[in-house]
This record gives sequence, C-alpha cells and structure tokens, in this order.
Amino acid sequence: MENSMDKVAVVVVELHRNSKSFANIVENIVKLEKKIFPKHESLARSFDEELSKNNSGLLYLMDVHGEVIGYAMYCWRSSLSASITKLAVKESHRRQGHGEALLKAAILKCRTRNVHRISLHVDPLRIAAMGLYKKLGFQVDSLIKSYYTPNRDANRMYLDFDSS
Ligand SMILES: CC(C)(COP(=O)(O)OP(=O)(O)OC[C@H]1O[C@@H](n2cnc3c(N)ncnc32)[C@H](O)[C@@H]1OP(=O)(O)O)[C@@H](O)C(=O)NCCC(=O)NCCS
Repeated sequence: MENSMDKVAVVVVELHRNSKSFANIVENIVKLEKKIFPKHESLARSFDEELSKNNSGLLYLMDVHGEVIGYAMYCWRSSLSASITKLAVKESHRRQGHGEALLKAAILKCRTRNVHRISLHVDPLRIAAMGLYKKLGFQVDSLIKSYYTPNRDANRMYLDFDSS
C-alpha cells in the first residue's frame, strides 16, 4: 500500500543522455513499456534511437525507492508543432495524479519552443488516457481507422495555443 511519503517525494525529472543513471533509467522504462503496451504500440525496442534524436525528450517520475513509476515522451515535429509520443504510469501507482503531472510537464517542455499546437494519437478505448487528455484541454481532431493494427483505431487529438 502507498503511504503519503511516496506521493510527496515524487518529482518529474528530465532524462539527460550524459546522466550517470541514463542506462538504468532507460532499462526501467523499457521494462514498464513492455508491461503496459502491446508490441505494436511499444517503443521498447526503439527507445534509445528515439532518445538520440535531438528533437525529442523524455520525462520520468521516480518513487522514494528509486523505482521509475511513470514517463512521458515528446518531440518537436516543426517550429510550429510538437507531439506527445508516449505517456504511461505503472499500474500500481495510477489515480494519484502522476499521469497529469507528467502530461503537464511535457506540455510545458513543448511550449518552451513556442509551438502553436501539440498533437497526439490515442486509442479511443483507452478511457483513462482519453479522460486525462480531455481534462487538460485536448480536443479530438479525427478518428484514424486501423492506425495501430487493422482492428485498432486512434483518435488524433490536439491542444492549440494562441499565438499572442
Ligand atoms: C493514462 C494514464 C497515464 C493516467 O495516469 P494516472 O496517473 O492514473 O492519471 P491521474 O491520476 O493523473 O489522473 C488524471 C486525470 O485522468 C483521468 N483519468 C485517469 N484515470 C482514469 C480512469 N481510470 N477513468 C477515467 N478517467 C481517468 C481523470 O480525468 C483524472 O482526473 P481526476 O483525478 O480529476 O478525475 C494511465 O492510466 C496509464 O498509464 N494508462 C496505460 C497507458 C496509456 O493508455 N497511455 C496513454 C496512451 S499513449
């Protein structure tokens, strides 16, 4: 069972390639990724490659025991638009505000580049994720049939910022 200390101590951190714990953190995230996402939706095999792109970033959360409990990945597609490419929280730590904290932090990171739009894809059947994205103001743009597999669609969602 969680205690209140765990909640207080959780902080969103940005992963840097030159960090001493880089390999350990990536290993932790890959393990979570394999548990949470089906193969066709998983970045487990391409995490390192994704992270080596200089237009992408990864944020993570650790509990007091040094265990990664959630992560978010984002990238800048152009000077005008960014994407949230991954968001996940370990099952045992859900519904405690961690997903929201990660998503807010990823939005802030994207906004440092003055983008006008942040977009993402999500399976409409992912009720928790849909609820979270809507809560933070994302709107559904369109449904893309067979986006993940022939039987799995995706909602394309976006969050716009005014340019002033
Ligand atoms: C989506 C996910 C990251 C949410 O993480 P979380 O830490 O449990 O979310 P939070 O506790 O921060 O919840 C924030 C908001 O999300 C929504 N939400 C979260 N879980 C929900 C659920 N089970 N049902 C409906 N809405 C939910 C709510 O709007 C909630 O706000 P509220 O607490 O004021 O009601 C987590 O469920 C997850 O990892 N799911 C599997 C992976 C996934 O679907 N990733 C996104 C697709 S790329």
